[in-house]
Amino acid sequence: MGLPILADDGLADTAYETHGAGAQKNRQQSHQMPGAAPHDEEKKQVQHNLAGVGRVIGVHSGKGGVGKTFVAVNIAFALAKMGKKVGLLDADIDCPNVVRFLNLRDMQLSGTKEGRISPIEYKQVKIISSHFLSDAPNEPMIIRGPIKHKVLAELLANVEWGDLDVLVYDLPPGTSDVPLSSFLIGNLTGLVVVTTPQKEAIMDAKKSVLMAKEMQVPVLGIIENMSGDVFGEGAGRRLAEELNTPYLGSIPLSKKIREMNQDAKIALSTQEFGQPALLAAVLGKQPETLLAQSWWRKLRS
Ligand SMILES: Nc1ncnc2c1ncn2[C@@H]1O[C@H](COP(=O)(O)OP(=O)(O)OP(=O)(O)O)[C@@H](O)[C@H]1O
Ligand SMILES: [Mg+2]
Repeated sequence: MGLPILADDGLADTAYETHGAGAQKNRQQSHQMPGAAPHDEEKKQVQHNLAGVGRVIGVHSGKGGVGKTFVAVNIAFALAKMGKKVGLLDADIDCPNVVRFLNLRDMQLSGTKEGRISPIEYKQVKIISSHFLSDAPNEPMIIRGPIKHKVLAELLANVEWGDLDVLVYDLPPGTSDVPLSSFLIGNLTGLVVVTTPQKEAIMDAKKSVLMAKEMQVPVLGIIENMSGDVFGEGAGRRLAEELNTPYLGSIPLSKKIREMNQDAKIALSTQEFGQPALLAAVLGKQPETLLAQSWWRKLRS
């Protein structure tokens, strides 16, 4: 039996075989939603909208709370500090956290003359989040998968990103709904998988890698977050070896990082988050190339 993919129509819950007879048909049907534009069309619109974007990077894990938003935010601001043109899409539609992380609650979106959405800009990073689309961002957004898909598709196809070197998606956990939609229509160049050292996180990070392979999205590598005495260390590296995937380094579980996150400070300029392998993977370069450059020393200072 192959990996089960559940129908994403908000009603059906049939599991489909992904291998064997009829699997291809099942796979296509399982990704289609009644009433929604066919994914091919959505994909085309997203490709068109992201024509000026060099690399589109998803930050993901099957597990919640492992530091995906922390890593996504810090990748974005590290790249901006390097002089790259960067966008950050908070793809966590119902529980968006990027705005909280950066304390941008009071910022307002504006539209363009053509009726498209302009991202907000903070410290040279263009940012969009469903937080800004909601009239009551502190109230729970109680919606089913197909609605989340539509909001994501809208953000992917209608936000005016312009020319960017890198667009980072902060993905929610799990292997359905928004991660699935992002894999299908998000035009992803590659995926960074975040895990913590605990067994449950490793198990779900593995699902993230296997899902990406199934969906033919390249896995750029695995990063171990919250590494150290409390949760242990090394399991992320072992998982990377087991899955024959690059290992992008570890970030310690640290009071300083927690406090910086709470205070909406970007941690990447600190020693705790100087991650050459991670940033190199995001840029599609070798870490040595980055380390040789002068801005790297600036970033680490
Ligand atoms: N290395 C670290 N040291 C200390 N605190 C951390 C570290 N990494 C993340 N945190 C904190 O852990 C919490 C969870 O992080 P974060 O929100 O980034 O996880 P997530 O995987 O995005 O969660 P979700 O699945 O809900 O989207 C946050 O409060 C964050 O500040
Ligand atoms: Mg998050």
